[in-house]
Amino acid sequence: MVIEVILSMKIAVVGSGYVGLVTGACLAEAGHKVFCIDNDPAKIRSLRKSQVPFYEPRLQAILSRAQASGHLKFTSSYSSALKEVKAIFLCVGTPPTKSGKPNLNYLEQAITSISQSCEPKKTIAIFIKSTVMVGANAYAQKYLKKISKFHNKLIFASNPEFLKEGNAVMDFKHPERIIIGTDNTYIKDLSRKIYKKFDHNPSIIQFTAVESAELIKYSSNAFLATKISFMNEISRLCDAVGANIDEIKAGMGADTRIGNKFLNAGLGFGGSCFPKDLDGLIMNYKDSGLESKIAEAAKHVNASQLGYFLQKIESNITLKNSTLLVWGLSFKPETDDLRESISIKLIKTLSKKVKNIYVYDPVSMKNGKKLLSDLHNVIFLKHQYEKIGGCDALILATEWKQFQNPAIEKLLKLKNRLVFDGRNFLNSELLKENNLRYVGIGKK
Ligand code: UGA
Repeated sequence: MVIEVILSMKIAVVGSGYVGLVTGACLAEAGHKVFCIDNDPAKIRSLRKSQVPFYEPRLQAILSRAQASGHLKFTSSYSSALKEVKAIFLCVGTPPTKSGKPNLNYLEQAITSISQSCEPKKTIAIFIKSTVMVGANAYAQKYLKKISKFHNKLIFASNPEFLKEGNAVMDFKHPERIIIGTDNTYIKDLSRKIYKKFDHNPSIIQFTAVESAELIKYSSNAFLATKISFMNEISRLCDAVGANIDEIKAGMGADTRIGNKFLNAGLGFGGSCFPKDLDGLIMNYKDSGLESKIAEAAKHVNASQLGYFLQKIESNITLKNSTLLVWGLSFKPETDDLRESISIKLIKTLSKKVKNIYVYDPVSMKNGKKLLSDLHNVIFLKHQYEKIGGCDALILATEWKQFQNPAIEKLLKLKNRLVFDGRNFLNSELLKENNLRYVGIGKK
């Protein structure tokens, strides 16, 4: 019989947003004793009641279980959380600044609070999970040196996260790679212990230079964003020459060198990561006296894809005095995150041109109402078909599963029998067979 040695240790996670909570809950479930810290006392109060302040599948359940087992605690007090801690994960926000560089204010505040709250005798590893520009770990170490006499005991390492919103818990529990940027042998050993439950045989942990780990994060997101923009550009050529983007995707995706993921053409990418990380990467090039033609192009194509779709809409329907139905508000399915959501941009643009827009999203209505409260002709529905008979056309903006096989008899109530599929998600043939007009992207 194999007896598993549980390598449990005390860990602090700073920042109880979506990365911090997923990290904290999953590490606690793996047997570690985790303290999640956040400056917002209201957030800590609700987290103590196991209330997650945003929609992320599976997170609520895993968080409640970890809390019930006593492995996961929430606090605003750095000193209690950091007492005898072996590792700290920094998961604070690094929102974009005007220049495109991520804002490091929260990171600096967290480092300051850490330095004021612990007097380590042994090395404490500080893993930066927040997405930062290349060079940020070195900057953090220098910053710490300025403010703390313990800078030789508090050692930074880069540990980028690869969590997709909507699937973050599964991504954490079943990673394809764990990247640790450090040259410190103690931290390497510690990392192996922390991630033991999530590692494989052979190990999927890759130890790299700090700068490489930072750049792996940016390059991964920029590469995925580029794949999407490439397909979006191909979709425009498909429209021009009569090819079908679904067929192109299947044909290209069958080549394992290309891979069949992240090839979906549509309205383009949104969210808090791809747009921001492309900008961060571009700034890294600039700071190094270089130019990034590919990242710039991916950004440019993405910025123009909504306009391309709006042209399609305008060439099929007279917008003045029309009433539209929009399905989907979030930047992608399985999240209520509206940051950089293309759907929100679409609604804002169209609301100036039409009479009314009815909108429906399975989980983002509350956030949507807040964000669009100043648009008086945007009306929030209780369910996806409500008011459909009063609408001229439907626009699908986010590919939530519940939109995939719509009730045809209900769609036939649309005055113009017109469906714009911004995510190439619907069964176009079925709609056309049923006398609906279908407009996708890169296909007829
Ligand atoms: C992305 C990465 O996928 C994660 O690996 C990374 O950890 C995360 O950023 C981050 O940096 O924190 P996320 O932004 O949650 O994750 O969402 P994705 O699933 O990557 O989708 C991003 C955008 O691309 C969405 O707007 C989505 O609709 C769009 N997309 C995705 C497409 O337009 N086509 C595709 O084929 C795939």
